[in-house]
Amino acid sequence: MDRKELFEKALSAREKAYAPYSGFKVGAALLTEDGSVFTGVNVENASYGAAICAERTAFVKAVSEGYRSFTAIAIAGGKDGETMEKCWPCGICRQFMYEFAPEIEVTTGTGADELETKNLSELLPEGFTL
Ligand code: THU
Repeated sequence: MDRKELFEKALSAREKAYAPYSGFKVGAALLTEDGSVFTGVNVENASYGAAICAERTAFVKAVSEGYRSFTAIAIAGGKDGETMEKCWPCGICRQFMYEFAPEIEVTTGTGADELETKNLSELLPEGFTL
């Protein structure tokens, strides 16, 4: 699956984002080594710190289904359901992804034809491991 197709899956997943507090809706699509795709959205909470980002939602869904190897993730985000902004993963998500896929390719953009891809090792040099 190419990056554009993966981003489009992130974009349609975003429709299910639950972001009544920030209004910033995010969708993610995570590609496993065997070609499966897990989507995720941000899910906010009245207790703001309890929110989970779209990227971690996708990872938690995949890992809890037994998947451990990942090659790419696409992220589509913006202030509302319409706007598109580049949405590089937050610091917590970078570390979370590093656990399973320190070399995963991360794609975001302002539209399916305006994508940018970076390796997680570039976004999080010297990530923590035990
Ligand atoms: N958010 C994500 O889901 N992914 C990111 O990469 C950045 C931030 C969410 C968290 C929160 O619900 C909203 O965007 C605003 O921070």
